[in-house]
Amino acid sequence: MTSKKMAFEPTLEFAREQDRLDPLAHIRDRFHIPPHGEGKACYFCGNSLGLQTTSTADYVRRELDIWAEKGVEGHFERSADAPEREPWFSYHKMFSESLARLCGAQPDEVVSMNQLTVNLHLLMVSFFRPDGKRRKILTEGGAFPSDQYALETQLRHHGLDPAETLIELWPRDGEHTLCTEDIIAQIDAAGEELALVMMAGVQYYTGQFFDLQAITAAAHRNGALAGFDLAHAMGNVELRLHDWDVDFATWCSYKYLNSGPGGVSGIFVHEKHGNDPSTPRFAGWWGNRESERFEMKKGFRPAPGAQGWQMSNAPVLSMAAHRAALDIFDEVGMAAISRKRTQLTAWMEYLIDCIRAAEPAHMPEIITPRAPAERGAQLSIIVPTGGRAVFDKLTAGGCVLDWREPDVIRGAPAPLYNSFEDVWHFGRILADACGVSL
Ligand SMILES: Cc1ncc(COP(=O)(O)O)c(C=O)c1O
Repeated sequence: MTSKKMAFEPTLEFAREQDRLDPLAHIRDRFHIPPHGEGKACYFCGNSLGLQTTSTADYVRRELDIWAEKGVEGHFERSADAPEREPWFSYHKMFSESLARLCGAQPDEVVSMNQLTVNLHLLMVSFFRPDGKRRKILTEGGAFPSDQYALETQLRHHGLDPAETLIELWPRDGEHTLCTEDIIAQIDAAGEELALVMMAGVQYYTGQFFDLQAITAAAHRNGALAGFDLAHAMGNVELRLHDWDVDFATWCSYKYLNSGPGGVSGIFVHEKHGNDPSTPRFAGWWGNRESERFEMKKGFRPAPGAQGWQMSNAPVLSMAAHRAALDIFDEVGMAAISRKRTQLTAWMEYLIDCIRAAEPAHMPEIITPRAPAERGAQLSIIVPTGGRAVFDKLTAGGCVLDWREPDVIRGAPAPLYNSFEDVWHFGRILADACGVSL
């Protein structure tokens, strides 16, 4: 996205002025910000677990009340006080429009279901189908461990040796992130041996936002399919999965989507696959055509679109929390979120750069791409000397970040609930920990 480049000043007054001008500043009040001392923490862990909205408990309570009052009838009866809400039988339908907006899909191409790693496996059942020479998977080196395990065990499941069939891409010497041209060159080099490109959308460690459109086009040109793990991308960056012709994707809802620990995942299946009932899949009763679901007949007949990948009935309590969070995304929209994210992340980057300029010995190095189009909210920082001690000082000062072995501090200023002042506090404490003042 394009955004006017802002001239920053390293002062608290500047941060407060930006908060005063911020059209999304009031949205922060819709979240429970964890306390720190007398005040609030500066919470930069939305890339790990997003915060609870102030309406989440009401949404969950409502389903608990329906369960208490109606028992099994809650599956089919609409509640008199909220007739617009779907009963549990069709609860998942309340998510399609919102999720489609978030990932740039048609509503039929998405569905909310299961957990992320489970969905990765289920989607690979459909879309990783090694055949003859075409049996390799290409991914980024250092992918999130769950994805590594999923890819490795999928290959083994097909009787393949990951050492020969898993292509992992690593940055050039001395660099931390991948160049798109190198990714494309490796896809072309794998050529007709390549069955699937399966990568992150936004990389969990470096925060790099890959060029999904270019990667997908390269995979297709070589006769392979392309799927993405959008755990760090959904609700963070703007996506156009349908137009980019992505074959499939999955995500979790507990990071930028603020839907609670272990929150329900979701999938995208491009309509060209989703509307083809012969696309292979593992089936369960919830993916069967809805009109026949309770006829208890033999023979699976998939529902059209992504809904045909559902297996089990909806985990309603976790989905109620998801609905509460998605209402905020519907209200604010990704365009406004992206505008603020770009500014807030650039502000954090600017403060780190001020510290780099003042303190060459402990120079905190940003390994996340500098170009706004190649990253989301997260900045990953290496502090070459005493990184862990710096991280501990930030924590003691009320900044919630995370530490990733061996030497990376990850922080994500989340546009829905972080303020420019939060980022200022982070910068001030980081400067202090590095022995300089801002
Ligand atoms: C990139 C990525 N993939 C997969 C997972 C695993 O998710 P789950 O435990 O929901 O399957 C995570 C969890 O943080 C993740 O960050």
